[in-house]
Amino acid sequence: MHAHIVHVHPELSSYNAAMTRSAQQALSTCGHTVTIHDLYRTNFDPVERGQHYSDRSNAQFFSPLAEQRHASRTCSLPHEIQSEIGNLERADLVILQFPLWWHGPPAILKGWMDRVFVNGGLYSGRMRYDTGYFRRKLALVSVTTGAPRDAFGPGSRGGDLDVMLWPIQYSLHYVGFTILPPFVSYGVQGHGYSYEDEFCQRERLVNNLTQWRSRLTCLDEALPLEFPGWNDWDDEGRAIR
Ligand SMILES: Cc1cc2nc3c(=O)[nH]c(=O)nc-3n(C[C@H](O)[C@H](O)[C@H](O)COP(=O)(O)O)c2cc1C
Repeated sequence: MHAHIVHVHPELSSYNAAMTRSAQQALSTCGHTVTIHDLYRTNFDPVERGQHYSDRSNAQFFSPLAEQRHASRTCSLPHEIQSEIGNLERADLVILQFPLWWHGPPAILKGWMDRVFVNGGLYSGRMRYDTGYFRRKLALVSVTTGAPRDAFGPGSRGGDLDVMLWPIQYSLHYVGFTILPPFVSYGVQGHGYSYEDEFCQRERLVNNLTQWRSRLTCLDEALPLEFPGWNDWDDEGRAIR
């Protein structure tokens, strides 16, 4: 199996970086190959705009969807986008590793989706969801939070992680990926908590890295998340009950 990790953190010695290194180690030990795209290190530009397109179909009016479609068709996508699409095409498993920032992924990762999941090339009217471009490939979100585990859940102080991760996981489903249950590393606080001593925190976070590595060694044990597909909708896209 080949895995591609999209690593999203600006600091090389962050806990997120340790998560990515652990994933690389665990997967390689199982005989898998791994590539990593560190979005900050490559200075990935997350802002979709007309200047990215050298051969525009309309130079006066920038329509992101139309220009993505045109660039896909004419093989003139920006180099970094073409290269990332190649990384995704080669992967059997894509891991997104990021910290929870304002109840969602950091902006650079949202922009990565805006620019990499190109209209026309990677999705079209019928090439979506369970007939999506990346069908039969797996995707796995690994997210770290500052708030502790108990603070998460519907109505709880930290919010509902299923809701917060829905846009990113549904977008991965939109382009065809099968989504494995997310791995959540709770309570990653550089300065610790007043109610937890330093030793306990370190031990908890080291154990979490161990759990992450073992999760990656038995990927086939987890049932994928369930999302609706074409058979679940009528012609207007409404759910068939
Ligand atoms: C801009 C910003 C927004 C954040 N928003 C949240 C949040 O909504 N919920 C939460 O639990 N933690 C939040 N945090 C805390 C981070 O999730 C936490 O610091 C990170 O997961 C720790 O991983 P790291 O040590 O690799 O940075 C936020 C941190 C930053 C910098």
